[in-house]
Amino acid sequence: MSLEKAIYRALETVIDPEIRRPLTELDMVREVTVTDSFATVKIDLTILGCPAANRIENEVCQALDTVAGLTGYELKMGVMDPAQRKALIEKLRGGKRDQFGPDSLTRVIAVTSGKGGVGKSTVTANLAVALAQMGRSVGVVDADVFGFSIPRLLGLHEEKPENRPTKVGDMIMPPAAHGVRAISIGMFLGPENAGRAVSWRGPMLHRTIEQFLRDVWFGDLDYLLLDLPPGTGDIAISVSQLLPRAEVLVVTTPQLQAAEVAMRSGELAKNAGQKLLGIIETMSGYTGADGSVVEIFGSGGGQTVANSLSVPLLGKLPLSPAFGSAGERGIPAVLAAQTDPASQALVQIAQDIDARGRNLAGKKLPLGVL
Ligand SMILES: Nc1ncnc2c1ncn2[C@@H]1O[C@H](COP(=O)(O)OP(=O)(O)OP(=O)(O)O)[C@@H](O)[C@H]1O
Ligand SMILES: [Mg+2]
Repeated sequence: MSLEKAIYRALETVIDPEIRRPLTELDMVREVTVTDSFATVKIDLTILGCPAANRIENEVCQALDTVAGLTGYELKMGVMDPAQRKALIEKLRGGKRDQFGPDSLTRVIAVTSGKGGVGKSTVTANLAVALAQMGRSVGVVDADVFGFSIPRLLGLHEEKPENRPTKVGDMIMPPAAHGVRAISIGMFLGPENAGRAVSWRGPMLHRTIEQFLRDVWFGDLDYLLLDLPPGTGDIAISVSQLLPRAEVLVVTTPQLQAAEVAMRSGELAKNAGQKLLGIIETMSGYTGADGSVVEIFGSGGGQTVANSLSVPLLGKLPLSPAFGSAGERGIPAVLAAQTDPASQALVQIAQDIDARGRNLAGKKLPLGVL
């Protein structure tokens, strides 16, 4: 193998932390020349002042250090010009502007509920991580613009630069945690606005969700999960218009009162032509130390909604202290408390959902995700 080739091989191991592909695939390696076992290597970053620049430079040096037979090298770090960046964006997009349109192989699952505070976001975050643990490539859109909670649940605290979205041209690269790429309005508000309420009118909300779906580069996803705000408001309507192919999961508690409202969310999805995937009951009865079942919120809500909408009850997640505390720490319970009955129920639901979508398995995707 020539030294040039050996250098390319070594550079294949350096992954751009934002785009999450090898530099060699991103046309970032602009020059590799070797004269008398001394190499000149030029790497072009996507943007000036790229937050990951130092990390990439260090990793390139480490990779070059491993190349046998190389006596030394000069590393030049540069920046792509607008035309090169545009070409890269086109390449990443794979020529498609509509990531989740009719040609996409991604299963889009919108998680809704009737009432607020029933555990939608907890279910979304845990389901996403459970699917990622199964080797699926998963993205999450926090569609709850007013009450976003996905960054906190996934531990994507914005103080850390790697948890902030970055831009490549007009494409937004989402941060990732626990193998899940996620985007949320909470990532754009800045620390000074973190506690403030977002109060936007319908059209603005619609544009935000539209932009998340269009401009955030998720790569080839097996699953895109959307965490919806409670109820049948503007966002639920926007999502049903923007993603008519989405499958809808309805989350409810065992309380009949919650169940009645949950049915309305299900009806909205049905009327919009979306497919109802099923119902998840959460905060269900748990088994106490003496073996008796404690049903704080009563029982039967999930089954009632399932019967009324003629869809399956996919599972029941018992009330679990681990679910609350793990979320606060930014490590979803399916990772932090794997033996917890609610975690196990969620993993089972993830497996069932995945097993139903097998009709797409085996199709070759145009670009692989790392
Ligand atoms: N199975 C569970 N056991 C115990 N606590 C839970 C369970 N599921 C959710 N919780 C807790 O209930 C609270 C509400 O959950 P979550 O934020 O996921 O609900 P939500 O439906 O997304 O709320 P909102 O409508 O405000 O978006 C959180 O504090 C969460 O930790
Ligand atoms: Mg929520």
